[in-house]
Order: sequence, then C-alpha cells, then structure tokens
Amino acid sequence: MTANKFQIRTAYREKRRQILPAQREMAAAFAAKELMQQAVFLQSEHIACYLATPFEFETLPIIEAIWQAKKYCYLPVLDSGEHPALTFVRYQYGDALHLNRYSILEPVKVSERIASADLDLALVPLIAFDHAGHRLGAGGGYYDRSFAFLRALAVRKPQLMGLAYAIQEKENLPSDPWDIHLDAVLTEKAVHYFKR
Ligand SMILES: Nc1ncnc2c1ncn2[C@@H]1O[C@H](COP(=O)(O)OP(=O)(O)OP(=O)(O)O)[C@@H](O)[C@H]1O
Ligand SMILES: [Mg+2]
Repeated sequence: MTANKFQIRTAYREKRRQILPAQREMAAAFAAKELMQQAVFLQSEHIACYLATPFEFETLPIIEAIWQAKKYCYLPVLDSGEHPALTFVRYQYGDALHLNRYSILEPVKVSERIASADLDLALVPLIAFDHAGHRLGAGGGYYDRSFAFLRALAVRKPQLMGLAYAIQEKENLPSDPWDIHLDAVLTEKAVHYFKR
C-alpha cells in the first residue's frame, strides 16, 4: 500500500463520515430506483451486494430491489486464512446474520455459495473513486483478491459497480498493479460508466 493511498483513505473516510443520516437514506433510495432501470441490472440474475457498516453507502433498498425483481442476492463472507478473499453466499429475506471478526454482518448459513465468476453483477463499497474507475477500498485488498481473475478476461463478468456518495469522487486516484477497476459507480446523483 502506498503512503499516498493511506492519506487519501483518511481524508475520504472523514468526508463520508460527515454525511447526515437523512441524506444517507435519500441517497440509498435514489440509488435503488436508478439501479433498477439500468440495463446491467435488468440483464443480471446473480447479484452480489454488501451490508453497509455505519458510514458505507446504505444498501437495504438495493437488496430489496434485487429480491423484488426475483433475482438472486449474495453477500460476501470472509474466508479464513492469512490472505483471505471473499466467498459470496445467497442471502434471502429473513436469513440469520451474525458479526464477523471485523464486526461486519454475514449470513450464518453459508451452504448456498456462488463462484465469483458466476456472478453477473457485484455491487461494492468504496472510500474513493475517480473518473477512470479506479477504486480505493478500506485497504484490506479483499475485493481485489476476490476479483483478481477479471484482469485476465476480455469480457467482464461480473460487472463491478461501486456504490458511493458523489463527494467520494476524487480527480485522480493512485492505482497499484493488483487494483481491480470498476466498470461503473452509482451515486445519489448519477450512474457513471467507465471506458476500458
Ligand atoms: N491479487 C492479489 N494478490 C495478492 N495480494 C493482493 C492482491 N490484491 C490485493 N492484495 C494486497 O492487498 C493489499 C491492500 O490492497 P489495496 O490497498 O488496494 O486495498 P483496497 O483495494 O483499498 O481494499 P479492499 O479491496 O479490501 O476494499 C495490498 O497491499 C496487496 O498486498
Ligand atoms: Mg485496491
């Protein structure tokens, strides 16, 4: 991790923290409505999302939209081991959740898994993004490891879409060789699609 990434992470975490609860709620509702109209959503059957930690972009309306559209919703579960990736498990209404070692909610039942490459769309949290689709995450490299296979593919499947507040956009983000780029970012104002 570069020192630069560390500084940007600190500054943009703080920006994200400033957003008021009412704005968060409105942003999440707008994003869900907007997402439902996107071709990438309509064409997707297997969609990974996440349960937001306190300052991440809220996803509950989006998860409800996935269920309502009769699509399959998956949540990330941390693998064990020294350099864990994420396993995506089916999440249905009413499924029991518990906190993992980072205090992130995960489904208790992990029997219904999907291979990451079989997902059509993955909605991912982020701390900052830029106009080229670079993503700055929390710094664990979890999403980068989980979708590392995308670098070798000509056709991107799953499509990776970041969920973010518009203020999380930064002019230019540093990018390391292992960073997996986003195909799109959905904010409370717009959907940005990035050229490859
Ligand atoms: N494909 C990979 N193989 C090995 N190590 C990796 C891979 N991807 C990421 N890493 C490791 O993860 C660490 C953190 O990566 P980075 O700073 O890009 O995190 P991030 O993308 O911001 O976080 P996250 O994806 O968890 O939200 C890096 O220092 C790197 O060593
Ligand atoms: Mg990264």
